[in-house]
Amino acid sequence: MFRISVICFFVLLLLFCSVNTSLHENEQLKQREHILNWHDNEKYYSIYSSEALVYKTLSGLQFPQNISANILNNQDFIKELHLILEGDPYLWLLVDKKNSLPADYIPSDLVRLRNSSYEITVQNMTLRRIAITGLEEMSVSAKNEGVQLFVTSAYRSYSHQSQIFEHYVNLHGFDKAVLISARPGTSQHQLGLTIDFESADNFEKHQQGIINDDNHADYFFETPEGKWLSDNASRFGWSISYPKDYEEITGYSWESWHYRYVGKPLALFIDTYFEGVQQYALEFIDYYTKQISNIKM
Ligand code: DAL
Ligand code: ZN
Repeated sequence: MFRISVICFFVLLLLFCSVNTSLHENEQLKQREHILNWHDNEKYYSIYSSEALVYKTLSGLQFPQNISANILNNQDFIKELHLILEGDPYLWLLVDKKNSLPADYIPSDLVRLRNSSYEITVQNMTLRRIAITGLEEMSVSAKNEGVQLFVTSAYRSYSHQSQIFEHYVNLHGFDKAVLISARPGTSQHQLGLTIDFESADNFEKHQQGIINDDNHADYFFETPEGKWLSDNASRFGWSISYPKDYEEITGYSWESWHYRYVGKPLALFIDTYFEGVQQYALEFIDYYTKQISNIKM
């Protein structure tokens, strides 16, 4: 009887603590929102603006509770965010179904890919210089661990993306095409910072029709290259754009081969604060920076 009472006591204590913590967090959030709405004089704003903007962004975007709590409980978040914002803005620019690039946007520093520590499957592919440096560093490391990375797609112009999208519409119909291919202007490949990887194991399977658009993500993920990228890419500044089970968030089916170069600080930031989900991080930055532009206007 005594033992049961002791167990009950600890269970109740645990419950009380967790309810209390989340109430405390909600309370904090409400308070900060209140402050934001209430204080609009410049002096106050200059002291608290970044913190207030983080609260406002989190309230506007409604991320999962644990992501918001992690951000709010971490004092380094704003410092790290601002360091990222000082870098090349195309590394964090949100390009998705709702946010497109101009048709005439072509990166100014595209460089041709050549077989080196990685291998290319198509001639004349290009990428932005910064991404090639990131690719070289990553593929040397992969090779040292016995993993040979193949690049099957890199920069794609607006018109190239139009052809690809049309191909998928003809093949599968519009409804399926929009889940696996970006409409022109909305592909991260147009940034010149994005790569589709492949594994040597898969080339024959593609030709034999064993791999198709429905199972490609599973097949690639199971290869040594797919696994290695999943475990290591973010250390080198590469971030998976369309992870498994996030179709509702990203708008696309899982693509285990599609990685965007975001640079090492942002890749770490995505892992630390956004559970490795690039879409959440870029949506956050997009919302946050748009508010700053509004204030400056
Ligand atoms: N397959 C990705 C969504 C693209 O077309 O950019
Ligand atoms: Zn891709």
